[in-house]
Amino acid sequence: MPPTFNQRIVLASRPQGAPVAQNFRLEQVPLPPIGHGQVVLRNRWLSLDPYMRGRMDDGPSYSPPVPLNEVMEGRTVAQVLESHHPGFAPGELVFVPNGGWQMHALVDASTLTRKLDPAGTPPPSTALGVHGMPGFTAYAGLREIGKPQPGETLVVAAATGPVGATVAQIARLHGLRVVAIAGGPDKVRYLRDELRVDVALDHRADDFAEQLRAATPNGIDVYFENVGGKVFDAVLPLLNDFARIPVCGTIATYNSRDQLPPGPDRLPALMNQLLRQRLSMRGFIQRDLQRLFPEFLRQMGQWLGDGSIRYREDVVEGLENAPQALIGLLQGRNFGKLLVKLD
Ligand SMILES: NC(=O)c1ccc[n+]([C@@H]2O[C@H](COP(=O)([O-])OP(=O)(O)OC[C@H]3O[C@@H](n4cnc5c(N)ncnc54)[C@H](OP(=O)(O)O)[C@@H]3O)[C@@H](O)[C@H]2O)c1
Repeated sequence: MPPTFNQRIVLASRPQGAPVAQNFRLEQVPLPPIGHGQVVLRNRWLSLDPYMRGRMDDGPSYSPPVPLNEVMEGRTVAQVLESHHPGFAPGELVFVPNGGWQMHALVDASTLTRKLDPAGTPPPSTALGVHGMPGFTAYAGLREIGKPQPGETLVVAAATGPVGATVAQIARLHGLRVVAIAGGPDKVRYLRDELRVDVALDHRADDFAEQLRAATPNGIDVYFENVGGKVFDAVLPLLNDFARIPVCGTIATYNSRDQLPPGPDRLPALMNQLLRQRLSMRGFIQRDLQRLFPEFLRQMGQWLGDGSIRYREDVVEGLENAPQALIGLLQGRNFGKLLVKLD
């Protein structure tokens, strides 16, 4: 018997700076009746991702903001409860591009393009992490913009998250020297002992810039930009001529996007360095590179199967805990791909 009510979290107000609990509201609403070509889904896993901070703002972006009082956007893995479409049957597990921060979702079956095996390897939750959008971001951004070559040096931060950890490991598979950066001793230990990067550094160390210099005696050829801020400042003087910088994210400034930092204007110096060193710096959104997705699914499936790529998940239980978990992600409190389990 399909449910008649739905529990969901909506955007109650837009954050000023860092998001707070009051920006979200948990509510119970009637579930609309199913229409032609639609399916009723029970969300099982909700992915929490840094881009969600941007959707909470009303400014210009590559995607429209979440409207006030509407369900927070998010990818999910869900089970079909009821189907008015011949391609889907109750009980099947699917990846949902926007299942949202809610227990149930009513969606057009035409938006569902990926069925998942509940007992499969890798497990279904990885369709939200290493075997889904974040892993693909790492694969496609590194390949298309980073253009890694054996023997080169790559630097990546947020390196225990699903994007950074995947970048670091693919680069190692390609024969690069990998310097991976994360926040805190536990994350650094994981990078060194589990992911076996060449050097793991803590960006919170007082002498971080000096440590990075010592770790890159041959300079930096690829800097996969996930964070911006002081990591970017430390990387700049170490870049080699013709270095490539895929600009994937700048999470250090997501809570203060439109504010200029204190201090002198360093833009002219950056422009001069770009020219002098013939640097390639290119922003990208993973969906721009979708043509690579089928090849990514195959290749990553193989790497996960043979143990070449490892992953770590950080699981939070219960929809009601999603707001605090997202707030924590923007402060580096997650350790691995952040997921909410909705059982
Ligand atoms: N362009 C695209 O299409 C695309 C797609 C997916 C993701 N992204 C971007 O990729 C980056 C990583 O995403 P993810 O999903 O893998 O996230 P994640 O690494 O799981 O989580 C974010 C991490 O960022 C780090 N961080 C937060 N604030 C920071 C700060 N002020 N300075 C330095 N590091 C900080 C924290 O790690 P530490 O504790 O280690 O610092 C935190 O755990 C994000 O910038 C995201 O927006 C872009």
